[in-house]
Amino acid sequence: MAKRGRLDDVVIIGVGCSKFGERYDKSYEDLAVEAFEECLKDAGISREDIEAAWLGTFFPGFGGGMAGSSLADAIKIYGKPITRVENYCATGMEAFRNAVFSVAAGVYDIVLALGVEKLKDRQSRGLPRIDWHPLLAKGNTAPGVFALPAVRYMHKYGIDRKPLARVAVKNHRNGAKNPKSHFQKTITEEDVLSAPMVAYPFGLFDCCPVTDGSACSIIARKEVARELKKDYIKILGIGLAVTSARPQFKPDFEYIGFPATRLAAEQAYSMAGIKPENVDFAEVHDCFTWTEISNYEDLGFAEKGHGWKLIMEGETEIGGRIPVNPSGGLKSFGHPIGASGLRMIYEVVNQLKGRVEKERQVKLRNGIGLAHNLGGPGSVACVTILGAE
Ligand code: COA
Repeated sequence: MAKRGRLDDVVIIGVGCSKFGERYDKSYEDLAVEAFEECLKDAGISREDIEAAWLGTFFPGFGGGMAGSSLADAIKIYGKPITRVENYCATGMEAFRNAVFSVAAGVYDIVLALGVEKLKDRQSRGLPRIDWHPLLAKGNTAPGVFALPAVRYMHKYGIDRKPLARVAVKNHRNGAKNPKSHFQKTITEEDVLSAPMVAYPFGLFDCCPVTDGSACSIIARKEVARELKKDYIKILGIGLAVTSARPQFKPDFEYIGFPATRLAAEQAYSMAGIKPENVDFAEVHDCFTWTEISNYEDLGFAEKGHGWKLIMEGETEIGGRIPVNPSGGLKSFGHPIGASGLRMIYEVVNQLKGRVEKERQVKLRNGIGLAHNLGGPGSVACVTILGAE
């Protein structure tokens, strides 16, 4: 059966993002409000115009994120449909995807997707562990889980830690120019290689940090955007793929990349009717330095086993052939889980509109940007392709 498969009538009319970092002085609701106020102003509408909303939070807590009412109380929109969603670290883009599809379905004209996470107030170092088995889950932290395929990849393709270190150096350099990023500092390859080890091959600077923050988008029907006389960003394609949460037990898991990313990217490229070479730049899920390298390959920017050459040859730098993470990425901008996917959309929209800091602006050839959000042990991936008006 022929599928419509395109989102021609749906556009983004506003984006917002809070400052990311250690925000001990702000509550869960304060962070949501910070992002929302910027977004509302950008969209040029009033809060009453929003007909429905999706809230993305991965770790609900006493501060908020248990249900839709956490967003209602924060932004003072009551009596409307608000849905809380969660899909591992892809939670933010999942909230966006659901909001987009509600407009595509013709049910609403203007909706909000907002992601927010307050992680720094928790007791443990790193993220709390999700213990699904008392013995087999030992060492099952995010750095430990991603370290396994990273080691396999390094062995198979004969590389050392240097390409990984280059990813960290690039992303810190980009993030240092970004006023909202968690870390505002550049680092050297030597800093990365000599930092304390977290889970080999990942040292401190190979890991994204634990961050507080919020980001959001306002999505509308194209006709409504035109009536409002708003310049907008087009949604060309979205793909979501979910695989097993225990890929290590799958006999065919190769430990060199993530099938979920490949499958989500295929869906998004097919919906957009484009190929990876048509993409001008990308915001990808660099939870660990090696993950960014595997993403280059899984998103089709390089052949399997060749992604590390992109970073070594400077192709993913801001001035390179395919700039990746001009925002600073998760590594430097930070990773408040439920917010990250929407933070990527925020960056792609601002790059496409040419309104980021001059030294971070990428060169636009086709006016197409891609955002990629990965969750769990590579089990959930969401890819969104956006286009300039
Ligand atoms: N990158 C760079 N610097 C970092 C950092 C990171 N990822 N994490 C912490 N720092 C810095 C802090 O700013 C601080 O610097 P300062 O002493 O100059 O103030 C110092 O390192 C110590 O910070 P602290 O918060 O005590 O770090 P920690 O040891 O508790 O945590 C990690 C470090 C790597 C364990 C933690 O950042 C982590 O778990 N990251 C991964 C998060 C994750 O798994 N996300 C999901 C991905 S799928």
